[in-house]
Amino acid sequence: MPRCRVNLSTMIFLVILQGAAVVLFCGWYVQLSPCGSAPSNGKVHVLLLSSWRSGSSFVGQVFSQHPSVFYLMEPAWHVWTKLQKSGARALRMSVRDLLRSVFQCDLSVMEAYLPEHHNVSSLFMWSHSRALCSPPACALTPRNQLSNQTLCFQKCDAMGLQGVEEACGTYSHVVLKEVRIFELESLYPLLQDPSLDLRIIHLVRDPRAVVRSREDSAKAFVSDNTVVLEQRSIPAAEVQYQAMQEICRSHVRINERAILKPPAFLKGRYKMVRYEDVASNPLGEITAMYDFVGLEMTTQLEEWIYRVTHGKGKGSKKEAFKITSRNAADVSQAWRTMLPHNKVKRIQEVCKGAMSLLGYRTVNSEKEQKRLDIDLLVPQEPYQFSWLPSKTEHPSNA
Ligand SMILES: *[C@@H]1O[C@H](CO)[C@@H](O)[C@H](O)[C@H]1NC(C)=O
Ligand SMILES: *[C@@H]1O[C@H](CO)[C@@H](O)[C@H](O)[C@H]1NC(C)=O
Repeated sequence: MPRCRVNLSTMIFLVILQGAAVVLFCGWYVQLSPCGSAPSNGKVHVLLLSSWRSGSSFVGQVFSQHPSVFYLMEPAWHVWTKLQKSGARALRMSVRDLLRSVFQCDLSVMEAYLPEHHNVSSLFMWSHSRALCSPPACALTPRNQLSNQTLCFQKCDAMGLQGVEEACGTYSHVVLKEVRIFELESLYPLLQDPSLDLRIIHLVRDPRAVVRSREDSAKAFVSDNTVVLEQRSIPAAEVQYQAMQEICRSHVRINERAILKPPAFLKGRYKMVRYEDVASNPLGEITAMYDFVGLEMTTQLEEWIYRVTHGKGKGSKKEAFKITSRNAADVSQAWRTMLPHNKVKRIQEVCKGAMSLLGYRTVNSEKEQKRLDIDLLVPQEPYQFSWLPSKTEHPSNA
């Protein structure tokens, strides 16, 4: 028994050392997941944050068709349509809270926005979600196969949303696409929530191409525009420019927030993607997005991506909300021949800051606009910080 005796000061030292170890370990561990809270269980939550007509339906499908992904398109559409007398700013927190619940596969939050007796088909664009066309939600499409929206729409509706919740729980990745978010700050609680492992993919597109594409279905944007413009009364001819200005400003706000001085919890969780880069190098850009969120490329998806980005046709009214086979690279240049130059000038004015930040060159004449051999895309490079003053051959004496 005397052999076990340690002197008092050694004992105190050991107790303090153990305490310090616990504190240190928790402090280190907190960066991954704070001690004592529910971890995300390895589940990854992806917010595909974009704007109208910026290629997000296509990129959304790229995730939706992946066998490890549960995907929903625009859950916030329900908030905006239910509360359409409101403005975007006032709806932020409702949108944020809705996203949090849906990421956690809790669809009860939708009840505030849906009719009392609702079905899977009450969810906006539900049949675009491959997971809602596959077991356990629906027997139609085996999980590792590409889904067919038309067939899914006919065969996979069901009463209530229990099947949606159950399906959601069986995937490693939950991906939500949203075009109704204009800043990052309201999402901070989600980024800090230990039960979520949130990654944000910010998909942007040349505003001139966006305007061209929005003109195909201008009516579809009337109600969203009034929410974006906070219900201000604005002359009809001005609405599209002011709405575009808000959208462009939001890209700047979001990108600068995430890149220039990101809070610690945002580091490594934000990736900006330009639609034009996806169009010109689909496989490379999509593989990079998969890598960013921890998904693997499959042969089947590779083939599908090739097929849908190398089809024929430049897009028509009928295709406005669909993804079909067309030559993605051609589509992204269509505005140059189709938009009148005075309109292009106006868009360049309201979106000046965004265009320069995101790497879209302005055109200064109609001739320059129509000359398709002039490349307007500034190559995207990883942000470079130079710590050394740049070399100057003739140092100023002033
Ligand atoms: C839900 O589906 C049931 C039958 O499956 C149908 O009778 C009902 O009208 C549907 N409700 C809605 C809101 O679509
Ligand atoms: C989806 O199914 C419909 C009905 O069977 C068929 O006509 C259509 O070609 C299919 N679409 C694709 C992309 O396979």
